[in-house]
Amino acid sequence: MYAGAPRTYLAELRGLVDGGADAAAVVRGVIAALLDDAGVTVPAAVIAGAAVVPRPPDELRTPWLLGQVHETLLEPAARRRAGAHYTPVEIARGLVAFAREGHAVTAPRVCDPAAGGGAFLLAAAESLAADGLRPVDVVRRHCFGGDIDPLAAVVARASLAMWAGTWPDELDVNLTVSDALASSTDDDAAFDLVVGNPPFQNQLGRTTARSRDEAARLRARFGDAATGYVDTAALFLLRGLELVRSGGRVALVQPHSTLVARDARGVRAAVAEQSAMRGVWFTTERVFAAGVRVWAPVLERDGDRDRQVERRVDATFTPAPTSAQPQADDWASLVVDLAGVPTPHLRTDGVVGDLATATAGFRDQFYGLVGAVRDDEAGADPRLLTSGLIDVLGTTWGRVDARFAKSRYRHPRVALDGLAPDVGAWVRAQLRPKLVLATQTKVVEVAVDEVGDLVPSTPVIAVHAPVEQLWALAAAIGSPPVSALARQASFGAALSADAVKLSARQVLGLPLPADHAAWADATVLARIVPGTPGPARRRALEAYGAAACRAYGVEPGDLLPWWLGRIGHSGAGAE
Ligand SMILES: C[S@@+](CC[C@H](N)C(=O)[O-])C[C@H]1O[C@@H](n2cnc3c(N)ncnc32)[C@H](O)[C@@H]1O
Repeated sequence: MYAGAPRTYLAELRGLVDGGADAAAVVRGVIAALLDDAGVTVPAAVIAGAAVVPRPPDELRTPWLLGQVHETLLEPAARRRAGAHYTPVEIARGLVAFAREGHAVTAPRVCDPAAGGGAFLLAAAESLAADGLRPVDVVRRHCFGGDIDPLAAVVARASLAMWAGTWPDELDVNLTVSDALASSTDDDAAFDLVVGNPPFQNQLGRTTARSRDEAARLRARFGDAATGYVDTAALFLLRGLELVRSGGRVALVQPHSTLVARDARGVRAAVAEQSAMRGVWFTTERVFAAGVRVWAPVLERDGDRDRQVERRVDATFTPAPTSAQPQADDWASLVVDLAGVPTPHLRTDGVVGDLATATAGFRDQFYGLVGAVRDDEAGADPRLLTSGLIDVLGTTWGRVDARFAKSRYRHPRVALDGLAPDVGAWVRAQLRPKLVLATQTKVVEVAVDEVGDLVPSTPVIAVHAPVEQLWALAAAIGSPPVSALARQASFGAALSADAVKLSARQVLGLPLPADHAAWADATVLARIVPGTPGPARRRALEAYGAAACRAYGVEPGDLLPWWLGRIGHSGAGAE
């Protein structure tokens, strides 16, 4: 970011504050030193009481330094509360450039409603100057915004003044101390571009959760969109859309939660009503010091909803293939492939529910089995099957310990005569040929219970179908394309959880393959997997996986490495 290492200088300033100097006075001191050097006359009030500070090294003497100084000297608790983690230069520049791409407005009036040290306004100013506008005109007529923190507002003005080489009076009017979520609507529809990095305030965090009063105020202001645990950053999207005129754009950095969180649904729906998604910037890198993973939409108020969405990834803003506009509030679909989840196009013919039924046990059934489970290698009682004992196309019963109700068993069986009548009836009803499916795994794990002696322990899902169809169904459900689909569905529920999670109802909705001949091949190969130990098992999985991809019309090369990689080399291997 800087030619030199700012850390040493920033640490020196931090040392002054730790030694008793007032942080605001130090910030004002740096403003005085930098702007004096740049020949800019600073309003007297800004440098009143400024501390004497060491002169910044030459390579750090840019307008970008001021925001960093302010951030460094913020008291940590106040910083967390305010969500004040300022934006790296390359992200601010990249997002401004992306947000302006193809925009009909050539010289936009730009607003950052939570401007902090002014990183985004600086990036916008640079971008407008590159288009030929005079810097002084840029800061007088094109840069607007505010911050709830009075010192941040001063720093943002000083950064722009240093950049322009002058401090015009308009700066003090255009950049104000204000609460963007409470502010009056004087500014509504006044801007062409709202850009920035609003505060992230996770409502599950102790320091960042809203007070009751604040929550009530935001509900009154934003209605249903402000209910529950929605992050404050998401509400800024709605404020941004109020601030731009029709055709104007909003590009605000967001935490990943805005894409998928249930509590952000109201915001997503309101955004979809008022605007089209013009672009998406996404990264799984940690580009902020705070470590929160971020993304940003580029919204166009009243924009064209038929257009493809432009996409960029990582701090480099590298172009990625376009995506369709999201359906309703399903924003996860905008980034699922960028997060490394494959999204193959499947050729399908019907769904599992056409051939089968599926059930998952309930808590009562789980507790009904407690006390009736015995470790018994060669007994006649039915075998208990936990989720952990299911592997790809088989089970590890008898070779790996099962954990059930806080105990471990190598050969868990259910003593039928020890069960309450209702649980006994339920267990007996399970004792027929079926498929058993694990939940919360890296890939879909399904096994065939041909004999019908397995008792699925909650939350294992049992899939019932005519016995002669069980292997074909297992070959479809266990296939790499179905794992990719299931991963996509789970991704929407929680971006960070790296698991496949299916309900019994979702299992019935899984598609069956269109190529019946390839499906028959995959079924034959699937049967080989469970009996194959050691390194040969990997080859058996590969052969089955490739055939199953073909059955769905998917090129194995696109999917098989992902699927095999998620299976890994661990585990005992199924039999
Ligand atoms: C993440 S910082 C981002 C700053 C700036 N966009 C940047 O990238 O340099 C968020 C800023 O929002 C300010 N802030 C927090 N709540 C605010 C509110 N309700 N209205 C306006 N600003 C707010 C904080 O003081 C902080 O400066």
